[in-house]
Amino acid sequence: MNINWNTELYCLIGDPIEKSLSPEIHNYIFNINNMNCNYMCFNVEDNNLKQVLDTFKILGIKGFNVTIPHKIHIMKYLDDIDEEAKLLGAVNTVKYVNGKLMGYNTDGAGFVKSLVDSGISIKGKKILILGAGGGSHAVSVKLAQSGVKKIIILNRTIEKSKQLAYNISNKFKNIAVEYDDLKSFSKYTDVDIVVNCTSIGMYPDMDEVPVDISTFSNETVVCDIVYKPIKTKFLQSAEANNMEIVSGIDMLINQAILSQKIWFSVDENMFLNIDEIKGILY
Ligand code: ATR
Repeated sequence: MNINWNTELYCLIGDPIEKSLSPEIHNYIFNINNMNCNYMCFNVEDNNLKQVLDTFKILGIKGFNVTIPHKIHIMKYLDDIDEEAKLLGAVNTVKYVNGKLMGYNTDGAGFVKSLVDSGISIKGKKILILGAGGGSHAVSVKLAQSGVKKIIILNRTIEKSKQLAYNISNKFKNIAVEYDDLKSFSKYTDVDIVVNCTSIGMYPDMDEVPVDISTFSNETVVCDIVYKPIKTKFLQSAEANNMEIVSGIDMLINQAILSQKIWFSVDENMFLNIDEIKGILY
């Protein structure tokens, strides 16, 4: 890719951003569509977030993604937030337009698309969500919106699972919602789908798992939103127990494509399909 005076910079901010695959995905899409854009990663600590956003405005950075741990508290620094991101309670995509930073969320839709693409039905299902951070907000609220029957939220900090469960039951009256401590997972093994939305298993702590998946039925579909490594220890142990798995890489690619749709206001057809993008990552 040639960089010249009017190359547009897009980026990811988070902490840690080490081993992120987002640059590979976005730069591949830019190249294939002959776009004069480049995507980079910036490690931004929490106490520098506001200053970085102000600097992005000064530099005229047109769009960026947001990852752990900023997806929730970045919302207070943005000029406006779209309805979907407000509903999901987290932002992973920001567009700078008309002097304003506008927040969006493509994680929830990206996750649900990864289930649909794998032929997994959601309607009427019992879902166990592990974690109550920004990723968990997006995934669990989007699943609630997509017609599941029951959602159970488990988190190390029980106050956060309580808050998220309360938000969901307020917004979606006909869904059963429960919450508990992550350590109590053995009470909740009778579910159709388990989603790891904690950062457990992420590089460099690749040997950890959030729960012992062998205690669940092998009919359970096991999903991870962690994508580095592409197949986490959690997914490996689910596979060893003959369970169907969905990797976080599918959600990552879907949310990236949806972010580009927001930045460039274009039709999805301009991009490649998920399998073609996966081909460059594996
Ligand atoms: P993201 O925006 O990617 O969801 P986050 O908001 O920082 O990131 O959330 C990370 C999630 O992983 C939280 O649910 C966190 O639990 P706490 O709310 O108790 O912090 C969970 N998590 C991270 N490390 C964990 C660990 N070692 N054990 C259990 N849960 C962990």
